Amino acid sequence: MGVKLGILGLGTVGTGTVQLLQNVIGRHPLLQEIEIYRVGVRSLDKPRAVELSTEILTANLEAIVNDPAVDIVVEVMGGLEPARSLILQALKNGKHVVTANKAVIARFGAEIFTAANQAGVYVMLEAAVGGGIPVIQPLKQSLSVNQINAVTGIVNGTTNYILTRMQTEGSNFDDVLADAQRLGYAEADPTADVDGLDAADKIAILASLGFGGRIHLEDVYCEGIRQVSKTDIAYAEKLGFVIKLLAIAKRQSNKNSQLSVRVHPTLVSKTHPLASINGVYNAILVEGEPIGQVMFFGPGAGAGATASAVSSDILNLAATLQTSTANPNPLFTCGHDDYCEIAP
Ligand code: NAP
Ligand code: HSE
Repeated sequence: MGVKLGILGLGTVGTGTVQLLQNVIGRHPLLQEIEIYRVGVRSLDKPRAVELSTEILTANLEAIVNDPAVDIVVEVMGGLEPARSLILQALKNGKHVVTANKAVIARFGAEIFTAANQAGVYVMLEAAVGGGIPVIQPLKQSLSVNQINAVTGIVNGTTNYILTRMQTEGSNFDDVLADAQRLGYAEADPTADVDGLDAADKIAILASLGFGGRIHLEDVYCEGIRQVSKTDIAYAEKLGFVIKLLAIAKRQSNKNSQLSVRVHPTLVSKTHPLASINGVYNAILVEGEPIGQVMFFGPGAGAGATASAVSSDILNLAATLQTSTANPNPLFTCGHDDYCEIAP
């Protein structure tokens, strides 16, 4: 049985995902059955970096989520509406959803997961936090037996890229922001990056997962990097610090369940592991008991990195949909005999 994808959006992330899937479908044993069935966009006249037939590309996104043939809806269009309504409609129609949309999940996660549970389908959101870094699944599964005490991260690639270049090259804020937009790191409205709102969405999601409760965005203190000047960065440097936009969710004490959740520019000692995370890279430091400290690190934004996370969610769902034929031990029986020889 094939797995049909309905992809909403063909911008930075949508294009990266289609390119990645077009390259690996047929070569990856678990992706052989996947078909890019429909792709929804706003404008049919825009030039596209991927080749798709005219039957696949459509401006009617509602038709995609209502199409009985679609198995998985991949929401990579961004924004709150119509993204939220389309996700809810897809779930109501019994489709699994993969989304990169942290803004929708941070605000409407409860509504979306309730709808998914009612329909008995999955919502996957690995790309919503940390770009290409696998952090959602580990928090949800591998670390779930721990008591999480703190999650501290650099979770916005655009602002880390800006601060790094201001620090290392003395670049101007506006010039570097323009580069971040050109490279596909920034949100459609980069205010969300620069003012810390994107990082607030992400830490709200991480905190909800890590601490097992619902975090309301209005309870997250949020301050962006607009006020950080080159002079601040130079003074910090002299004192042995770098300035990073940190997103922090912390248990107030071991005994109670009160949390402090906040985003703000922070002086980070050069000896701290987060101090050396530069450019578009993100890192998330999780502290828990009994595990201690675990740090996730990798590219936090951009087409390729995010497409990797979106595609891994698609792959996991496709494997679930095909449980009868899926191989439970893909590592040692992957079908690529030439890759699997054990070196002498
Ligand atoms: P983008 O480049 O602005 O692309 C958005 C795509 O969605 C475009 O193809 C656009 O169509 C389509 N679209 C938007 N609104 C639409 C509407 N109302 N009707 C029909 N089509 C619509 O955005 P992006 O950077 O790929 O980001 C997409 C999502 O991924 C966002 O939620 C973002 O936060 C998230 N994300 C992005 C990154 C990143 O590095 N960029 C990383 C992680 C997560 P047209 O092409 O016709 O305009
Ligand atoms: N605009 C976001 C960032 C994209 O710069 O981190 C990745 O979520």
